[in-house]
Amino acid sequence: MRNIAAPAVALSAALTLAACGPNDAAPADSAPQAPKAPSPSEAEKLALLAALPAPYNEADLDNGRRAFARCRSCHTITPGGPNMTGPNLYGVFGSKAGAKEKYSYSHAMRTAAFTWDAETLDHWLQNPRTFLPGNKMSFAGLPDATDRRDVIAFLKVETGFKPQAE
Ligand code: HEC
Repeated sequence: MRNIAAPAVALSAALTLAACGPNDAAPADSAPQAPKAPSPSEAEKLALLAALPAPYNEADLDNGRRAFARCRSCHTITPGGPNMTGPNLYGVFGSKAGAKEKYSYSHAMRTAAFTWDAETLDHWLQNPRTFLPGNKMSFAGLPDATDRRDVIAFLKVETGFKPQAE
């Protein structure tokens, strides 16, 4: 047992150190895939969350992440991430519905004339079928308003949303 437990302790100690220290001091080879685009730090994510308009500034990002588990089988959210059954969602806020060039949308989505924001996404996630009849997202929806609030805030923080410069 010692043989198994000891490296785990050492690893978690290394991770703790890496999390506290400057980024360039991170130990090599503990993270095989360095992020290609600069992704926001946890502190930056929390600052972005706090700057969102109510009720999103009170969202629970952990619950949002859990709610997003229901979307992950069909959607990636990383910059340049692949389209799967559904389109990649990076940069979705502020973009016109059905606008990713390389994704084959339904006619309904491709010709929809609205832009994604918290409000349209909230209606979409509440009931995709009635919000945009004829779309091809086979997802029943998130009936719980708190789950929708949290997943929307999670997506704002994770998909490169930038608050309007004032
Ligand atoms: C079973 C697969 C599936 C699941 C699960 C799913 N989606 Fe989708 N989603 C799709 C498909 C397919 C489309 C494209 C719809 C079309 O073209 O009509 C889509 C489209 C979208 C769009 C529009 C994107 C754009 O480029 O305009 C958003 C936003 C979205 N989904 C968010 C979500 C979120 C958030 C969840 C989880 C709460 C989710 N989806 C769950 C398959 C899925």
